[in-house]
Amino acid sequence: MALVEGLLLQATSTGLLLGVVVLLVVYFLSSASRFKEEDNEPPGPKPLPLLGNLLQLDLNSPHESLCELAKTYGPVFKVYIGPKKVVVLAGYKSVKQALVNYAEEFGEREIVRTFKNFSENHGILFSNGENWKEMRRFALTNLRDFGMGKRGSEEKIIEEIQYIIEEFGKLGGAPFDTTKPVNYAVSNIISSIVYGSRFEYSDPRFKQMVNRANENVRIGGSAPIRLYNVFPWLGPFLKSKRTLERNAEKNKKEINQLVSTLQETLNPDDRRGFVDSFLLRKQSDETSGKKNSLFNEKNLFTTVVNLFVAGTDTTGTTLRWGLLLMAKYPHIQDCVQEEIDRVIGSRQAVVEDRKKLPYTDAVIHEIQRVANIVPMSLPHTTSCDVHFNGFFIKKGTTVYPLLTSVLRDESEWESPHTFNPAHFLDAQGRFVKRDAFLPFSAGRRVCLGESLARMELFLFFTSLLQHFHFSPPPGVSADQLDLTPVVGLTLNPSPHKLCAVKRS
Ligand code: HEM
Repeated sequence: MALVEGLLLQATSTGLLLGVVVLLVVYFLSSASRFKEEDNEPPGPKPLPLLGNLLQLDLNSPHESLCELAKTYGPVFKVYIGPKKVVVLAGYKSVKQALVNYAEEFGEREIVRTFKNFSENHGILFSNGENWKEMRRFALTNLRDFGMGKRGSEEKIIEEIQYIIEEFGKLGGAPFDTTKPVNYAVSNIISSIVYGSRFEYSDPRFKQMVNRANENVRIGGSAPIRLYNVFPWLGPFLKSKRTLERNAEKNKKEINQLVSTLQETLNPDDRRGFVDSFLLRKQSDETSGKKNSLFNEKNLFTTVVNLFVAGTDTTGTTLRWGLLLMAKYPHIQDCVQEEIDRVIGSRQAVVEDRKKLPYTDAVIHEIQRVANIVPMSLPHTTSCDVHFNGFFIKKGTTVYPLLTSVLRDESEWESPHTFNPAHFLDAQGRFVKRDAFLPFSAGRRVCLGESLARMELFLFFTSLLQHFHFSPPPGVSADQLDLTPVVGLTLNPSPHKLCAVKRS
C-alpha cells in the first residue's frame, strides 16, 4: 500500500513538474513573440524574456527610473514592464506634442487589470469610448452647475476653511500629523458637490470613506499591484489586492446607502448635487424608454467613486506638501505671510485676491511643480497606429506621459531641482505662467477637476498661512524635514508632524 502511494505521489509530482515546464515554455514563447520588434519603434533597453526591463526599474519609484532611462534613450522610448510594452513620453515638448497635437491618437485610457476588475468600462477615470465621453461631459456640466470654477465652490470652500482653522486651532501649536484634517476638509468640498452636503470630521462613516480613498490610491500604485497588473496569476497571493477588493465592497455599501437616502428625498426642483442630477437623468431616460441609456447604477457608483477619490487624495496631498514645504523653507513662508498681511490683512481671502497676491500664487505653483503628485500621469493608450517623432507606435500601445520629466525639464526650468518660487515671477515680481507647468496633464484626458483644485489650493493655502505659522516639531530643524515621497498612484509626503502656531 505504502509503495502504491509512494509511486502515485511520484507520478503526480513528475506530472506536475512536467506541467510546470510546459507552461513555462509556452509562456516564454508567447512572451518572446510579444517582444517582437515592429519596424521603426522607439528605442529602449533590451528586454529579458518574461521579465522585460523589470530589473532596470525600481518599482517602488518607477518615475525616477524612467527619468534615468530617458537620459539614454531620449524623449520617446519603450520599456517592457514584464511582457507589457510601454512607450514613455519624456520632457515637456514630447508630452505636450503627443497629448495636445495628437490628442485623439494618444487620448485613450489604459485600463490596467486592477481597475478593469472594478470599473468594467464605467465611470470616467478608467473608461473609454462613448461611456467615457458621456460620463465626462455629464460630470463637467454638473460640477460646473454645482459650483466648480464658480462662486458656488468658493462659498463651499470658505465655509470649510472655518472648520479646518478651528481644528488646527484646537491643537494649541502641538505637533500633529496633517493628513486627516487636511484630507477631511478637502474631501468635504467634493462631497458637497457630489452629495449636496458636507460631513462632520468626527463622522466615523466619512472618516472611513476618506481613509479608504487614500489607501486605494497608495496601494493602487504600489509595487505588488504594478506586478499584478502584468502578471495576473499573482493575484491570489497578494494582500494588497484583497484590500482593494474589500475597500470596493465597503464603498459600494456606503454609496448605496447615501444614494438611497438622496433618492427618497429627490426633488426635481431642488437638485442638491451631482447624485441628484444623475438620478433625475436616469429617471427621465427610464420614463422615455431610452434604449441603452448609460445612466445606470454602475455608472453612478463608479463616477461617484472616481470623483471622490480623485477630488480628495490629489488636492489634500498637494496642500500637505505645501505646509511641509513652508515649514522647510521658513524664509519663503515669511514672504507669503508678509504679502497676505499687506494685501488682505485679516479678512477672509477670496478668489479675486489671487491677482493681488503674485508671490503667494507663485509659491502655490512651485509647490505643485515640486510635489509632482501624479508623477507618470495616469496611463494612456494609442487609439490607432501613430507615426510620432519619426517613430511608429502601434494601436493599443500603453503610453506613460512622464509628468515628472516635464515638471523637472532642464530645458524649461531655471533650477528644476530646487524649490524656487521665482520660476513663476518676472523681474518686477509679477506672476508669470509657464508652459511646462503641467501637473494636471494636458489634452483630451486633462484633469477634469483642475479649476476646482486650483481654487481649493489657493483659498485653503492662503487662509491657513494667514492664521498659522507652520514649523517642525520642537527638537527637529527645518533641514531635518524629509522631502522623500511615499510612492503610490500619487506622491505623498513621508509621515511627519508639524506645529501650526496661531499668528496674532
Ligand atoms: C491638485 C489636484 C489635482 C491634480 C494634480 C490632478 C491631476 C490629474 C492628472 C494628472 C490626471 C490624469 C490626466 C491624464 O490622464 O493625462 C487627472 C485626471 C482626473 N482628475 Fe484630477 N487632479 C487633481 C484634482 C482633481 C479634482 C479635485 C477632481 C475632482 C473633481 C479631479 C478629477 C479627475 C478626473 C475625473 C480625472 C479623469 C479624467 C479622464 O480620464 O477623462 N482631479 N487628474
